[in-house]
Amino acid sequence: MEFFIDTAIIDEIKEINAWGVLSGVTTNPSLIVASGRDFKEVVSEIAALVGGAISAEVTALDAEGMITQGKEVAAWNEHVVVKLPLTPAGLQACKALTAEGIKTNVTLCFSVPQALLAARAGATYISPFAGRVDDIGWDGIQLVREIKEAYVMGDIDTKVLAASIRHPVHVVQAALAGADVATIPYKVFKQMIAHPLTDKGLEGFMKDWAKGQAAQAAPT
Ligand code: E4P
Repeated sequence: MEFFIDTAIIDEIKEINAWGVLSGVTTNPSLIVASGRDFKEVVSEIAALVGGAISAEVTALDAEGMITQGKEVAAWNEHVVVKLPLTPAGLQACKALTAEGIKTNVTLCFSVPQALLAARAGATYISPFAGRVDDIGWDGIQLVREIKEAYVMGDIDTKVLAASIRHPVHVVQAALAGADVATIPYKVFKQMIAHPLTDKGLEGFMKDWAKGQAAQAAPT
């Protein structure tokens, strides 16, 4: 499973990208506003930084507007993936943009039927929102699993991008459910790497190493 980071904050992207684990970045209108940056400027900067798939979401609600905006954002950088909402207009725009060779991420997916429609419209990625499904008392990871199963059975190559990830257990569950990608917030990356036994073990190694160095340096 590949990792994308779900943020438009450059410092967060730089820090996690330096770990060498990132294959891409997802943004949405809320994340762009939270970054306090101009849409085109921040997406172009992210694309230059990471070099993988960078999702940039359209804000038009009609198909024609989505297609126009989609072409515009796709022209900003070769790595831009046009993010489209899972609506009739979004599907129509997905079909049209796919026909022009533009990659798409169909977002706000909350059901398998929706995911099957997006795939048929040619989506490069489908984004089921695991955390938001959990929020309403359903099982978000089960949704990810069922979409992947339906795609495998139908020989569909749309990639399943587990989104709305809230904690490290979601990441593990998404991987076990067969997600191709998980888009993960900065905070969850930090939680994923942290382990008290790693810190304790490293501290012990460093103390022993320093003792050994001191013993070697001491006059006999
Ligand atoms: C997906 O691409 C979305 O940007 C994101 O994962 C939504 O997550 P949230 O439910 O935490 O806002």
